[in-house]
Amino acid sequence: MRRPLPDRGAPWPQVKAQMLELAQGDVRWREGKTAVYVFNAGADVEQVQKEAYVLFMSENGLGPAAFPSLRQMEAEVVGFGLELFHAPAEAAGVITSGGTDSISMAVKAARDHARKVRGVQGRLNIVLPRSAHPAFDKACAVMEIEVRRTPLHGYLADAASMAAAADGSTVMIVGSAPNFPYGLVDPIAALSELAVERQLWLHVDACVGGYIAPFVRLDGAEIADFDFVLPGVRSISADLHKYGYCAKGASTVFFRSAELFQLMAFDVRDWPGGRMVTPTLAGTRPGGAIAAAWAVMQFLGVDGYRRKHALVTDARRRIEAGVEALGFTVLGRPQLGIVAFTREDVDCVALWAKLRERGWFTGVTTEPKSLHLMLSPIHAQVADQYLADLEWALGAVAGPTEAEARYS
Ligand SMILES: Cc1ncc(COP(=O)(O)O)c(C=O)c1O
Repeated sequence: MRRPLPDRGAPWPQVKAQMLELAQGDVRWREGKTAVYVFNAGADVEQVQKEAYVLFMSENGLGPAAFPSLRQMEAEVVGFGLELFHAPAEAAGVITSGGTDSISMAVKAARDHARKVRGVQGRLNIVLPRSAHPAFDKACAVMEIEVRRTPLHGYLADAASMAAAADGSTVMIVGSAPNFPYGLVDPIAALSELAVERQLWLHVDACVGGYIAPFVRLDGAEIADFDFVLPGVRSISADLHKYGYCAKGASTVFFRSAELFQLMAFDVRDWPGGRMVTPTLAGTRPGGAIAAAWAVMQFLGVDGYRRKHALVTDARRRIEAGVEALGFTVLGRPQLGIVAFTREDVDCVALWAKLRERGWFTGVTTEPKSLHLMLSPIHAQVADQYLADLEWALGAVAGPTEAEARYS
């Protein structure tokens, strides 16, 4: 709908008041009743994100020579990721704007590898477990690559089905750590074996798990290997703006070697503006997002991440026990921050809607219909309240029908 710009500008206090008024209708995520879209690590982290973002809000990651500050911060953030994911010395990576961006860039590099290095002609394909994120479909749509989704086994990627689906035109196979619908880490070791045996490019989508799994492992969780320790893994996406608790607009993508990393970049010379080399799809890259990522990582350190993530684990365990006591079944064995649970005799989508009446905004998984929570540290404070409200919603949704109630 067309709309005229106001003829005259308004004073900032008035504009700000309007914005706060608009926000009245938004979910109250600061109170912990949101378990999707927002990662709430607490007011301390939020303050660091905000102030660091504002300090570098106008600076541009497109110009590392002009902003050596950003170049250094990005190099350090990438370095932390390489260290966390046991990357070999020749590995490389970059900050992107988000998971979809990181995944698209990895697909682009793998596509170029298939064409330029392996010399594959004709239509290309990618082999994905059914649970892999739609960001891959988006990348494949843009690059005209066929998507082959394979069935799951116990909510996890099935290496045998993926092996059957892959062929000489496969540019990439994918495993998630964890997948979004169930929060479960795929058997990456088995996929790595397949990748090594058939010389396939294995991408690990650790957008959700990358910045939580290494820390909960330090706290004793037995997380199976999912990173460059496994020889078949050629690239990894890991989002800073999810369990890295950084400001939005920040993810990382890593490649096993500098040669693979080079396949991602764009180098354009044939125009009047001079040579332009950009590592990712973006031209301008927000300095604020890079700076906030660096600042949050400095602020938390290993110790801070362990403390914040321990709250997530605590919330998840209490919620798992609580929902099981209410007759639900947890799907698989979640180990990180996502949990999905179902009850065959209840319409979980109706439950989800009922819970919204009490201010909860969470997710749903559709196969099978389940409630889905992506937990943050704040949820350790509200887990009991969630369980009490779930019990209430269960009573309301699974209770007597209107007719039964009238005649009882
Ligand atoms: C497993 C997984 N991969 C990729 C993405 C895409 O990330 P983004 O929304 O930052 O583009 C998501 C988003 O939730 C995800 O859960």
